[in-house]
Amino acid sequence: MNLEVNLGGIRLANPVVMASGTFGYGFDYQGLINPNEIGAIITKATTLEPWPGNPPPRIAETPSGMLNAIGLENPGIEVFLTEHLPKLRVLGAVVIVNIAGKTLREYVELASILDGTPGVAGIEINISCPNVEMGGMQLGTSPDMVSEVVRAVKEKTCLPVMPKLSPNVTDIVAIAKAAESGGADAISMINTLLGMAVDIETKRPRLRNIFGGLSGPAIKPIALRMVYQVYQAVDIPILGGGGILSAKDAIEFLLVGASAVSIGTGTFVNPRLALDVKEGICEYMERYGHTSLDEVIGAAVRSNAKFGR
Ligand SMILES: Cc1cc2nc3c(=O)[nH]c(=O)nc-3n(C[C@H](O)[C@H](O)[C@H](O)COP(=O)(O)O)c2cc1C
Repeated sequence: MNLEVNLGGIRLANPVVMASGTFGYGFDYQGLINPNEIGAIITKATTLEPWPGNPPPRIAETPSGMLNAIGLENPGIEVFLTEHLPKLRVLGAVVIVNIAGKTLREYVELASILDGTPGVAGIEINISCPNVEMGGMQLGTSPDMVSEVVRAVKEKTCLPVMPKLSPNVTDIVAIAKAAESGGADAISMINTLLGMAVDIETKRPRLRNIFGGLSGPAIKPIALRMVYQVYQAVDIPILGGGGILSAKDAIEFLLVGASAVSIGTGTFVNPRLALDVKEGICEYMERYGHTSLDEVIGAAVRSNAKFGR
C-alpha cells in the first residue's frame, strides 16, 4: 500500500506525524516506536535561547482531555542542533522543526540558522506565542501578523514552511488565507484551545499559570470543523490533528481535507498509537479498494458539495 504524501514539499513515507511537544525528540520512546516507521517527527518548540517554561503545576487532566501550560520549555537552538538533531538523524527520522519566538526577529534568525541544516525537512512555525512587540497579543490571532511572520521566515529559508494555526480565533479561514498569502507551503492545525480548571478543595486554579492549552479527544470536533473550513479556502496541503486517539479519528481528518495527520496527546495513552493509526489507515484503504490517499483526502467535503451544502 502506497501511503506516501507530499506535505508542501516535505516528502512523507506515510501520513502519520508526531505532534510537537508530545513526543519530545523521540528518545524516550525507543524500543516502543521506531522514528523511521512514522511519517515525521515534529520536534518540541525550539527558541533562540533556552526557555525555562512555566512553574508547576503545569498539567491537569480534564474530562476527555488535558490542560498543559508547559510554556515551551526547551534548551534552545544550539543544543537542539548539536545534541538532539544528530541523534534523530541516526534514527532515520524525518524531522520537522517547530520554532517559536517572542519577536519577529527571533523567528527570522531561527529560520536562517535552520536553512540548509542537514537533516531538517521543514519548519513548523508556532504562532501561538505572545508577541512582545505587539503588547503580548498572540501572533496567531492577527491575519496581518501571520502573513508577515510567514513571509519573513520564507525569505530566510528554502525549507518548506508550515505555520501552525491557533484555534483561539474567531475566523480560522481568515488566518489560513493570510498564511497562504504569506507564502506558506502547508498549514498545520490545530494547536491547543485555551482553557482552565479549578480545584474546589484548595479553591484555586489547578494550573499555576491559571490558563493552559486543552488537547485530547475533547477538541476533535472543533479541529475537524476547522480543517473542513480551511480545506475549502486554501490550495496548500493541511496537516490536521487534535484529539486523535484511533485510526478512525485520523481517517475523519483525512476525509475533511487533511493530507496528513498529527498524533499528540494520544501518544500519552498509547505510546504506539502512531503505528496503530498507520496500520488502520492501510486497512481502511484496502477495505474500500483505495489505491491512493488522494481518493480519501477531502472526500467528505466533495460528497457534501454534491448535495449543494
Ligand atoms: C504537553 C504538550 C506540549 C506541547 N508543546 C507544543 C509545542 O512545543 N509547540 C507546538 O506547536 N505545539 C505544542 N503542543 C500542541 C500539540 O502539538 C497539538 O497541536 C495539540 O496538543 C493538539 O493535538 P492533540 O489533541 O492530538 O494533542 C503541545 C501539546 C501538549 C499536550
